[in-house]
Amino acid sequence: MNLSTPRPHRSARPAAPLSGQIAVPGDKSISHRALMFGALAVGQTRITGLLEGEDVLRTAAAMRALGAEITRDGADWLVAGRGIGGLTEPADVLDMGNSGTAARLLAGILASHDLYAVMTGDASLRKRPMARVIEPLKGTGAQFFARAGNRLPLTIVGTREAMPLTYRLPVASAQVKSAILLAGLNARGVTEVEEPEPTRDHSENMLRHFGAEVSVARAGKGRVIRLTGQPELRAADVVVPGDPSSAAFPIAAALLVPGSRVIIANVGLNPLRTGLFETLREMGADLAIENARVEGGEPVGDIVAAHAALRAVDVPAERAPSMIDEYPVLAVLCAAASGTSRLRGLSELRVKESDRLSATAALLRVNGVRVEIEGDDLIIHGTGAIPGGGLVETHMDHRLAMSALVLGQASREPVRIDDASFIDTSFPGFLKLMRGLGADMAAA
Ligand code: S3P
Repeated sequence: MNLSTPRPHRSARPAAPLSGQIAVPGDKSISHRALMFGALAVGQTRITGLLEGEDVLRTAAAMRALGAEITRDGADWLVAGRGIGGLTEPADVLDMGNSGTAARLLAGILASHDLYAVMTGDASLRKRPMARVIEPLKGTGAQFFARAGNRLPLTIVGTREAMPLTYRLPVASAQVKSAILLAGLNARGVTEVEEPEPTRDHSENMLRHFGAEVSVARAGKGRVIRLTGQPELRAADVVVPGDPSSAAFPIAAALLVPGSRVIIANVGLNPLRTGLFETLREMGADLAIENARVEGGEPVGDIVAAHAALRAVDVPAERAPSMIDEYPVLAVLCAAASGTSRLRGLSELRVKESDRLSATAALLRVNGVRVEIEGDDLIIHGTGAIPGGGLVETHMDHRLAMSALVLGQASREPVRIDDASFIDTSFPGFLKLMRGLGADMAAA
């Protein structure tokens, strides 16, 4: 991504009905993990359906810089792993681009390797808090040196003899949970993480898939995960399902545009990721799951979405971890719904690729929708006819860019965005796929 070149402006305007069948790119969370666990396993891991988005390609580059061999084989990716503790010191700074997941999970891996590494990222990632992983990971014995406010660039001096951690997450974060488990892979003894609310469990599932011993027990509303350190991780093939967080955009567009009906094939339906679908049903959305099956250890299915008159919704804070990346596009749907919606407990949105709480509010306001932020809640006053006509600031945030373009499908005047380039971090081919369904999204 070269920020010195002129930034593309894209716009969307009200469209004719959307129809057709598509598949969205592979799941971002599972793709990062497949590359990382593959690099830590002994043998060759084959990954089918890897997301070839900028974020995941940064993880691939970092794991290569640490000694793993990663190649493309037709549509698949192959990872020749180095074994636990077998990664080697990188010769240069590791640039994680826009990806918080890549940076935080990698911090866990590096903590329990005997090496010196420096990690940086783009202007968005360099603003994001890293204390949430640095503080617990210091308990392994690794050393961390960061910029003021615990921001990247971050220097990590890992340790050969990592101590296993016992940690209760102060916030519901799958990234922090995963960083601690990854550090625990090369620690002698049992690493224990308690999460106050269940968060996506792809790390736990994949660790088991690669042969590690992981147990999960309920603890109040949350869970305790225990990992036995220094297992022999064996290479294992991974089939990556379509990303439900990416599927959310064509689904939302179909719900908004009268007469639409689209099928999104092969979407991951892990129950810790499907809070949006539950919410959409509460709003009166017409969503059906066909061909429900289990593939590569994760539930998947085809989603059929058709236009529906939506009503306002009140989303409880406890649901946030299962739909944390979907609030911007949900807010767009709430703008088109009848009544006033309240999305509760969104403090974590302030530390995403942008401050998504205020940026989502601004996205709607600039297009004539009445919105308020009360504490950590977002309140949206639905309107049948969204004026549109706004130029949306996307703040280097892919999900804001795609949400704004979806809003443009249902507004009277076209919606423009300042920068479409970050869409490629998670959803390469987004514009082409949406146009293929009949959406009117164009370079302005
Ligand atoms: C992710 C976890 C979520 C999510 C991010 C991907 C992961 O972040 O927002 O896009 O792959 O673990 P938090 O766990 O920090 O909420």
